[in-house]
Amino acid sequence: MREFDEKSITGAVIERLAECNDPRFKQVMSSLVTHLHDFVRDVRLTESEWMTAIQFLTDVGRTCTDKRQEFILLSDTLGVSVLVITLNHPTDHGSVDSTVMGPFYWADAPERALGSNLAEGVKGEPTFYSGRVLGVDGRPLPNALLDIWSGDGEGNYDMQIPGETGMKARGRIRTDAQGRYRFRSIKPTYYPVPTDGPVGVMLRKMGRHPYRPGHIHMIVSAAGHAPVTTHLFVANSRYLDSDAVFGMKESLVARFDRHPAGPGPDGEPMDTPFYTVEYDFRLRPAEGITG
Ligand code: BEZ
Ligand code: FE
Repeated sequence: MREFDEKSITGAVIERLAECNDPRFKQVMSSLVTHLHDFVRDVRLTESEWMTAIQFLTDVGRTCTDKRQEFILLSDTLGVSVLVITLNHPTDHGSVDSTVMGPFYWADAPERALGSNLAEGVKGEPTFYSGRVLGVDGRPLPNALLDIWSGDGEGNYDMQIPGETGMKARGRIRTDAQGRYRFRSIKPTYYPVPTDGPVGVMLRKMGRHPYRPGHIHMIVSAAGHAPVTTHLFVANSRYLDSDAVFGMKESLVARFDRHPAGPGPDGEPMDTPFYTVEYDFRLRPAEGITG
């Protein structure tokens, strides 16, 4: 018979992994138990706090559906998602930063011709995006794919708009022979992450706001290169300094230059002021970089 005190319990749980034949799982679980026990000892967790935590995690699980992932939102708002991304996507050699995917990606957006307006009928100030997709060596990448999505100029994604069933402000664009891309959309604005579930309760209790700065999402990919899930953030947007999911990276902040009504970049007449944005994405080779 063996009983445990508040210190020896940790080693005892880890010893029970002796027969585990998956070394990585054993390493992860041993570390998890160590940190979890240290946390409980550190804050001297009470039984009622333990029960509150169990109830909270139960509520997070109950809020998940095939359309909503409250656990990922919890991970996002605690900075875990961006930490995992940062550890797994090095940006040395000048490759573009990655950031969070978020819950509003919709696979298989239509492939659109270069220069297309992805935001036909979408509220917001017209914005022309352009630039190049390059390797880290500076060579242009023809036929690279940008899978793009954003909310509208009021901060709502298509799937959040009551009665909206189709894709809006989404599309896939391929670069030309010189690695250039261009498309039209809108200037995105800041918006809150979903706050009608347990994560919203947690944010309020923590005294935190739920907002993300204005951004447009894209997954940029090219043959032989590692794909990157990223954003362009609107320079001077509110909340750039306090993104609710910690996803803001300074290298991804883009200047939105305002122009008066008149001819657009391709000569098309614009009857309202519009913006232009230029940004180059650099991708790492798929097999990584040596040297
Ligand atoms: C988003 O940018 O779409 C997003 C990211 C994380 C949580 C909620 C929304
Ligand atoms: Fe977003």
